[in-house]
Amino acid sequence: MALLEVSAVSVRFGGNVALSEVDLAAEAGHVTGLIGPNGAGKTTLFNVVSGLLRPRSGRVLLDGADITRRGPAARSRRGLGRTFQRLEIFGHLSVRDNLRVAAEFQRGAADIGPILARLGLEDVADLRADDLPTGRARLVELGRALAVRPKALLLDEPASGQDEEETERFGLLLRELAAEGLAVVLVEHDMRLVMEACDIVHVLDLGKVIASGPPDGIRADAAVLTAYLGAA
Ligand SMILES: Nc1ncnc2c1ncn2[C@@H]1O[C@H](COP(=O)(O)OP(=O)(O)O)[C@@H](O)[C@H]1O
Ligand SMILES: [Mg+2]
Repeated sequence: MALLEVSAVSVRFGGNVALSEVDLAAEAGHVTGLIGPNGAGKTTLFNVVSGLLRPRSGRVLLDGADITRRGPAARSRRGLGRTFQRLEIFGHLSVRDNLRVAAEFQRGAADIGPILARLGLEDVADLRADDLPTGRARLVELGRALAVRPKALLLDEPASGQDEEETERFGLLLRELAAEGLAVVLVEHDMRLVMEACDIVHVLDLGKVIASGPPDGIRADAAVLTAYLGAA
């Protein structure tokens, strides 16, 4: 069984079907990509997995435990970390305190010194988070997610606002985190990052998974091209 398993999840907003019977698995040790045009349902799926949104039907399993009825805090304590598409950090706190707040929320949290070092944030650790350019602020958010010592990590467009060099480093970091045993799930529009970092890619379109496979196969998939061209 995969570390994170989503089965038959459906979500509606009023009359709109945002997710329809979605199955998704993310293995420990892998970076799992989730791509698709705007409005496909990627963020909605993350909200269901992290407990911010109750699905109409379906189940979410983390490390074999059914967490469908658990709240976001309980899921975080069980090892689910996430970042947000619309960057959510405490702008008035220092970089270090952003990580500290996350760590203190968690019993047995990680030591934040090594996380700051790993993310290259030591030189800005005492600056206010909102004084950082977006690219580095994204790393602060990742640092907060890592401070809860996640087993599964959901990243919602983490490279948006990063320059090319930052994105390349970010891809290597994701590979390292996976190599350490995390199940990383990456929602991202930067196709180069997706192709370089992911072991497997799932494509969501109009609330349905329309293709799954290794990055090379996905790039050439006709249904995927149609979904993107149709959305353009
Ligand atoms: N809170 C909400 N209320 C109503 N509709 C929503 C809400 N959140 C998302 N949606 C709709 O659900 C669909 C999927 O959105 P979203 O998950 O944000 O897509 P993505 O992240 O793939 O761009 C879209 O049609 C969007 O307008
Ligand atoms: Mg989104």
